[in-house]
Amino acid sequence: MASLTISAERGRVAETDFAPGPILLLGAPGVGKGTQAKELVKLWGIPQISTGDLLRANVAQGTPLGKAAKEIMARGELVPDSLVEEMAEQRLHEPDTEKGYILDGFPRTLGQAAWLDGKLAAESLPVVAVSIHVDYNQLLRRITGRQNCPVCQTIYNVFVNPPRREGLCDVEGAGLVQRADDTEEVFKERMRAYEALTAPVVEHYRSLGRFAEVDGDRPIAEIAASIVATVERLREGSS
Ligand code: AP5
Ligand code: MG
Repeated sequence: MASLTISAERGRVAETDFAPGPILLLGAPGVGKGTQAKELVKLWGIPQISTGDLLRANVAQGTPLGKAAKEIMARGELVPDSLVEEMAEQRLHEPDTEKGYILDGFPRTLGQAAWLDGKLAAESLPVVAVSIHVDYNQLLRRITGRQNCPVCQTIYNVFVNPPRREGLCDVEGAGLVQRADDTEEVFKERMRAYEALTAPVVEHYRSLGRFAEVDGDRPIAEIAASIVATVERLREGSS
């Protein structure tokens, strides 16, 4: 298998014939799944599929799915499996998923994991799962300090990763926004849902092998390098 290394200049792929295949980014709310997915997109040229982002787009567009999901998301609870699976099914059939994709925030329940495992059984490359870990207080700080660009979706943090000009995106110059569920109260509910319903999903993929845990309390580029090395190692012998 061709190996892939992160060059000193971020965003360059040393060799391009590496097919990362399906990758799951698992971890608690605010752990950095979206931030890391965007780093991997730049390196590998495969899409990020974030069920949270897809649901928020549906809410913004007022689709029937968005209307069904809006209040559930505002409370910090999980949207029913059947709705999320239908949305994932459509997205996974788009042509850009051929060399692989990064699933960010899916699967989130054992039911969703069983659905996904069934779908992936027919694929040539098995799934690789990477769980990111950060402690509770750090998660709360990340959630309450997060700001997003509504145009390019770049993620900032007022405490640890601020934009160059306060409140404005470095790339687009657009005014940054805060997610409606990024309050301490809703974060607590999201953590409850994570511990009850998503922590067992992490254990499921740990038990299947091709699983690794990475420390998310480090600089963003360092974590990305660990994830790349991990995926390469877990992919050895699987293609
Ligand atoms: P979703 O959007 O997936 O939210 P989440 O899982 O709670 O995760 P977040 O997006 O809040 O955090 P993240 O891990 O992506 O962190 P980020 O990179 O932004 O889901 C939202 C809702 O949708 C759910 O509550 C549910 O209702 C519904 N939903 C979604 N998927 C579903 C599913 N499959 N089933 C059912 N319901 C579903 O980083 C966070 C902050 O930390 C940022 O400010 C960032 O700048 C900062 N940061 C990141 N990395 C670092 C670092 N290394 N050092 C310092 N700061 C960092
Ligand atoms: Mg996210």
